[in-house]
Amino acid sequence: MQSSDLDPRRPVDATIDSPAREGLTGTAPADLYGAPERDEITVAPDGRPTAEQPAWRQDFPIDWPQDQYVERRDFMKFLVLVSGAFGVGQLWIVMQSWWRSRRAAFPARRIASLDEIPIGGTLAFTYPTDVDANVLVRVSADLLVAYSQKCTHLSCAVVPKPDQGVLHCPCHEGLFDLRSGNPIAGPPRRPLPRIVLQIRGRDVYPTAVEHRTT
Ligand code: FES
Repeated sequence: MQSSDLDPRRPVDATIDSPAREGLTGTAPADLYGAPERDEITVAPDGRPTAEQPAWRQDFPIDWPQDQYVERRDFMKFLVLVSGAFGVGQLWIVMQSWWRSRRAAFPARRIASLDEIPIGGTLAFTYPTDVDANVLVRVSADLLVAYSQKCTHLSCAVVPKPDQGVLHCPCHEGLFDLRSGNPIAGPPRRPLPRIVLQIRGRDVYPTAVEHRTT
């Protein structure tokens, strides 16, 4: 019986020299894998013998057992690599958090006189750079608060509402407490960055930006 007459869907014979399997295990000796599992034995998809396979398949026969073989050393390398990447990621997060929690000091810059801001009044200003938008609110005669205007959810601009004691983010209805800058409603989870203020004489100076996580 010609090997080509065999039904390609017949159960695979684990014997290495069985018809239709000649050469498909490359140069591996027949006893290399002991008694291999049937589904681990390389068989061309069409079930035809090697001689009838395309040249590329004859030139590059790869056994399933060999293809799936992963050395213990390779596995350990993989584990060390993944663990290292995880460790570096954690370190990066910790450093970012530490960096943000530091109070960043910048040169003080006069932004207004107290006399220009009535109680309940607000003032938009930029600090520490010209693209960092902030808002100041005079809550009472002797209490001024100032925050970054960038919502800690998705960075929309918050709007102060002194009469309601909040800063409102219109994008997703986020609310921040006016006195603390803490989120009190909506999706934001982190407080607004606080702008540290100093009063020199009658003049108001921002002197630092305080990033907070809780
Ligand atoms: S961006 Fe402010 S609540 Fe979403």
